Amino acid sequence: MFFELQGHLMARLSTRESGLCETRSLCNISSGRSSILLVLVFIATSPMGCRRAEPPRFTPAPEVVELTADIEDDEELEVYKTLQRDIAEQLRKSTGTPDKPILLGTEESTDKLKLGYSLYTYYCVQCHGVNGDGNGPVAEHLNPKPRNYTLGIFKFTSTPYGTKPRRADLVHTIKRGVAGTSMPSFDRFSNEQLDAVVEYVLALTYRGQLEKQLAGIAFDDEELPDDEYLEEVIADILTPWQEAGSQLVMPATPMPTMTEDTIRTGHQIFLSKGCAKCHGTYGRGGSMGNVDVGTDAWGNKTAAADLSSGMLRGGDRFIDVYRRIASGINGTPMPAFAKTFEDDPDAIWQLVHFIKETGNRRRQGNPPLSEADLPSQPAVDPESAQPSEDSEKEAA
Ligand code: HEC
Ligand code: HEC
Repeated sequence: MFFELQGHLMARLSTRESGLCETRSLCNISSGRSSILLVLVFIATSPMGCRRAEPPRFTPAPEVVELTADIEDDEELEVYKTLQRDIAEQLRKSTGTPDKPILLGTEESTDKLKLGYSLYTYYCVQCHGVNGDGNGPVAEHLNPKPRNYTLGIFKFTSTPYGTKPRRADLVHTIKRGVAGTSMPSFDRFSNEQLDAVVEYVLALTYRGQLEKQLAGIAFDDEELPDDEYLEEVIADILTPWQEAGSQLVMPATPMPTMTEDTIRTGHQIFLSKGCAKCHGTYGRGGSMGNVDVGTDAWGNKTAAADLSSGMLRGGDRFIDVYRRIASGINGTPMPAFAKTFEDDPDAIWQLVHFIKETGNRRRQGNPPLSEADLPSQPAVDPESAQPSEDSEKEAA
């Protein structure tokens, strides 16, 4: 698989070299990030040599592979092997192949998806993998891991906790990259290219979600859903995505002017509402406190963000930080605080101001907000403060 992929990327590279690239803009964009260069160098210097490979193929998800694990009875084994083949066939019918993908719920591949495929294969597959499961050839060297789309969970949304991102959120993330991680910024993509690559990411995401559903049904029922049931399964996958479009989280109040006062109040709230429990007294997070916050939905160990780093993964506009606090971060231990501050919406802005200030101080080489900056009597001892019940996340 690994070599197939490499071979394929080599083919892409040589296509580029020989000037066969159809879309000029596709060839000219460079993310300008060393990570990409590294990836390309890594691939180009591999001992594989150049050979024209087949287009990439989807590989079965672990849930499908596991259907035949630990089965000793030959007859039963045959049943599940057939189910595995049927799943692959159903997936192909509903979602196509990597180079001719079909957006789940539609009939056939489109030019937009084909452009998405070219872009994805050139710029994303090394990290996110052919399946979009985050298992590209360089993923094992990266921390945090590239997103596995197939769970259908995305972190950086402008929608409430536990819901899907809006299309615009994915565009925004891909355009700006994820600061402090290997996820590059693709701000030189045209709007058309952004739209196409997002469409492709969505095609992989829906496909991954369907595959997991089919594997679960095959395991429980020893058969695949009939047409009617399949339609329901597909609707259950797509409906939350369709609903996300109208679920934009907007601040309840306009942002107050950032002053020393709003920063200090923000720091006080930070201590009294349990933020410090995970992020540390000064917001320096996992890098300082060694607080164990557990693993994320993708099974990777995670750490509370260092809010002073000035590299906010969710974006560093005031509204981005606001939404991270109000909506939390899907799939991670970062809870949503919209309900906690329902009666005091300015508190979220004050927290935002405190977080921006810690970042500014670090960037300017100033020490973090010192003891002297702390309110003399924090309302609640940060050690014992817990996020309130209703801020705890519901199931993802
Ligand atoms: C060098 C590796 C690398 C490359 C290349 C890369 N990504 Fe990523 N990507 C990452 C990592 C790492 C993350 C996870 C960041 C995190 O968890 O905070 C990520 C996250 C994402 C997310 C999830 C954002 C969210 O809200 O959860 C999307 C969508 C995404 N990448 C799309 C793309 C697309 C599209 C491309 C190609 C145009 C691409 N990536 C290229 C490493 C990469
Ligand atoms: C249970 C632990 C926990 C609590 C309590 C908590 N956080 Fe977080 N927070 C995290 C984790 C973990 C992340 C990083 C998630 C990721 O990207 O993997 C995070 C990320 C963030 C981010 C996004 C940073 C970025 O890089 O974009 C902000 C902002 C933030 N937290 C603010 C707060 C505030 C304000 C509070 C209190 C109102 C709070 N957090 C309470 C665990 C926590």
